[in-house]
Amino acid sequence: MKRIGLLTSGGDAPGMNAAIRAVVRSGIYFGMEVYGIERGYAGLIEDNVTPMEMRSVSNIVQCGGTKLRTARCMEMLTVEGQKRAVDTLEKHGIEGLVVIGGDGSFRGAKVLSEQYGVPTIGIPGTIDNDLEYTDYTLGFDTAVNTCLDIINKLRDTMTSHERVSVVEVMGRHCGDIALYSGIASGAEIIVVPEIAFNMDEIVSRINRSRANGKHSNIIVIAEGVMTAEEFARQLQSFTLHSVRPTCIGHVQRGGSPSMMDRMLAAQFGNKAVRLLNDGIGNRVVGIRDNKIIDMDIIEAVSMKKTFNYELYETLQMISM
Ligand code: F6P
Repeated sequence: MKRIGLLTSGGDAPGMNAAIRAVVRSGIYFGMEVYGIERGYAGLIEDNVTPMEMRSVSNIVQCGGTKLRTARCMEMLTVEGQKRAVDTLEKHGIEGLVVIGGDGSFRGAKVLSEQYGVPTIGIPGTIDNDLEYTDYTLGFDTAVNTCLDIINKLRDTMTSHERVSVVEVMGRHCGDIALYSGIASGAEIIVVPEIAFNMDEIVSRINRSRANGKHSNIIVIAEGVMTAEEFARQLQSFTLHSVRPTCIGHVQRGGSPSMMDRMLAAQFGNKAVRLLNDGIGNRVVGIRDNKIIDMDIIEAVSMKKTFNYELYETLQMISM
């Protein structure tokens, strides 16, 4: 394969730039030409394509966001949009494509592979960690660390005022950001879409912790359940402790990627290009049991994300 394309799609995630760098540099290593497609599938449909050089990706390994920019593209769901995307690839002689994005972006990649025969490799780039086939997605670790930084600060003020903090984190339908940031911040309670919550139990847990000498409580709620504001309003009618909501919001999508995300980016990007160089397409890359893996894209997108109940129980046992 002599010429490959690269795009980032869907919500951005810290580490996407490091992955772009890894793809471009690995491609050049193998003697390929690498074309950057701006604004995800929208840019592919509208022919926003530029060649990338060794130095196009200098000084971006540490940057959040995505140099190629990104978009959520509804047109890619239509046959017309898909045909235009394929036309752009043909026009530039692009023989293989690397797509960095989440679940929705992989569905676009699957269509290009399956229906139009474009060898495509998916790199999981989303803060949500909602893809079953990989233990971690790119950006998740940095996003959780950003949440931890904010929750640490909330703990300071909540303890001073003996309050209950309800902190809303992202994750779409997945509770992983809430689960990991809850455990790692020492939150007493997490509320996730995967497990129905019981307000009486939550109130008892708060009361028990106060009876045991605790001066504040942190409840991390995943956005897929309800907003922090709504949850705090409901909780306040069951308790005399003062409750305050905080929504972390898009702050958790930005920032310099953590060591873990930079390492994943380097390995995912390199693996994606190695596959294309071997003439292999229609795969996604990921990490499982600390090993970089690749898997059939159709199989990967059909897997249903499971929740780690053991980690949830761990939180219940150690945070009180
Ligand atoms: O998929 C990443 C994500 O940040 C989700 O956690 C969140 O639900 C969504 O994107 C927000 O999307 P937008 O930036 O388009 O509001």
